Amino acid sequence: MDIAALRQSWSQLAVAGPEAARFFYATLFVIAPETRAMFPPNMQHQEDKLLASLGHIITSLDDGEALTAFANRLGADHRRFHGEDRQGRMVHLAERHYMWVGQALLGTLEHFLGPRWTPALKAEWSAAYEAVAKMMLTGAAESERSAPPYWEAEVVNLERRRVDICVFTVRPNYLCNYLPGQSLPAQLPSLHTWRYLSPANAPRADGTLEFHVRATGRFSTHLVRRLAIGDTLLLGHPMGTELSSYDRAPHRPLLMIAGGTGVAPLRAVLEAIQQGSGRPVTLVVGGRTPDDLYDHLALTKLAATPPAGLRPGTGDDRWLRYVPTVENSWGWDGEVGRAVDTALRLGSWNNADILVCGSPAMTRATVGTLHSNGLRAEQVLTESYDHTVYPPVKATAAPASRDFSWTGSR
Ligand code: HEM
Repeated sequence: MDIAALRQSWSQLAVAGPEAARFFYATLFVIAPETRAMFPPNMQHQEDKLLASLGHIITSLDDGEALTAFANRLGADHRRFHGEDRQGRMVHLAERHYMWVGQALLGTLEHFLGPRWTPALKAEWSAAYEAVAKMMLTGAAESERSAPPYWEAEVVNLERRRVDICVFTVRPNYLCNYLPGQSLPAQLPSLHTWRYLSPANAPRADGTLEFHVRATGRFSTHLVRRLAIGDTLLLGHPMGTELSSYDRAPHRPLLMIAGGTGVAPLRAVLEAIQQGSGRPVTLVVGGRTPDDLYDHLALTKLAATPPAGLRPGTGDDRWLRYVPTVENSWGWDGEVGRAVDTALRLGSWNNADILVCGSPAMTRATVGTLHSNGLRAEQVLTESYDHTVYPPVKATAAPASRDFSWTGSR
């Protein structure tokens, strides 16, 4: 495989900017109109996601095992894409679609590269695309043996905790196995776009999942304002490897720093610890005002619940030190300041694993402060929620919004 030739031609295509993405999708939808149904109705802001990722992945073929693992997982995840075509038939992503996407990709390269698109280069691109498509199809076939393409989950409980925050529980139609700290792509069939949500609970015997959502965009605002008991949400395959690796060194102290609905995945981890080892944890939850501490009651209750494995009278049942902190202390007699500053006041944490979860801005600022206080990058676990980007990005490097820009460069 001539990776250098693939990369060079890919960067030549990138010069065309969003026009290349428009051409790619126009070609795809002409060759294979049924694929249109799988994409969001309004693709203005996200139309370069598939094409940009395709290029990055294909021009990374020399990454070996890392790329194979990523493409296998991406293929398994792609099983969730589906939609209703113009005749009202449900179209699910299948093997034939890979051929059409490949044709649209090659057609786009041919159109924009002009005379630089030689038969030799075409052969390189065909072989590289086929290799990646095969990896994705292998991942899809493997996941077919153990999981549905997506789960249909009924809303069984709903609480509006604040005008912009709701907490709801869903019951999926099949058991959905996830690790505490992971997140799942979720779709409201009426909106037809996918966004990531993190369960706030450790896996339960009845399979139900609790989600916390703050209204920040169209999808989340719809959930907060319009979701009702009995509605159905579709859930894709669980993703995320960082927060869920919280137990990689159980002998170390564990510090968690949360902001906003970033509390949710950390609460799932805490519930798992309470049900398991009862390992000591310090959780600092920050807000601007006391009103931001929307999950305060549940966390207080969790902190007062002894670890399941602790036999009465055999040890200290105060396994969780829960420290809420606010920046604007009016009407508040607890800790004051940003969550990270409060956490640094509570201990030195040189030997701790530190989980950080909040908005991208809060996460970046928190990790920056930890580093400038001498804590090492490898101590800190964060999740980027851009699980489909190759090469994978750290939360601190992820874009603030999910509107990917077309750069075409590595
Ligand atoms: C080698 C082949 C492919 C690669 C590398 C690839 C890669 C990607 C990536 C990375 C995303 C972003 C996912 C996300 O943000 O959640 C994506 C989205 C998507 N892909 Fe693929 N894909 C491939 C083939 C296909 C095929 C064959 C189809 C079927 C037509 C397809 C349909 C979609 C759809 C519907 C989306 C969601 C787009 C959106 O919500 O904006 N992909 N793809």
